[in-house]
Amino acid sequence: RPVYVLSGPNLSRLGTREPDVYGAETLADLAALCREAGRGLGLSVDVRQTDDEAEMISWLHEAADARVPVVLNPAAFTHYSYALRDAIAQRTAPLIEVHISNPAAREEFRHNSVVAGVATGTIAGFGLRSYVLALQAVAELG
Ligand code: DQA
Repeated sequence: RPVYVLSGPNLSRLGTREPDVYGAETLADLAALCREAGRGLGLSVDVRQTDDEAEMISWLHEAADARVPVVLNPAAFTHYSYALRDAIAQRTAPLIEVHISNPAAREEFRHNSVVAGVATGTIAGFGLRSYVLALQAVAELG
């Protein structure tokens, strides 16, 4: 079964970006981890990252049209993108919101997610393992 793992802005910088918050592992490491977890769960994982809101929205449309589940780290879009929220609301399969850090434990502006209300659920605060836990959720939701 296919699943998209989509990451938003600045996540291409994993490994060098605020390693105290996001860890030392890179986006390539994350992709390998997700593909490996997917193999064990019978999921064929398509890992993508973009800094571009329009591109992210087009991937969400693609997922909705193909009825593909999504693991999504919207990164900073989480906190302000109503366009992303409206795209997610069109989902036709489970969509799990993930965060590497725990936004609730950070700055005030990170406490609100404008996408959480249209996601199936949210997993945050487990480092890159957040993505693995989300893939497990996708596998269990069927
Ligand atoms: C993040 C948390 C967001 O607040 C932040 O803007 C990110 C990454 C996370 O994975 O912890 O870019 O989504």
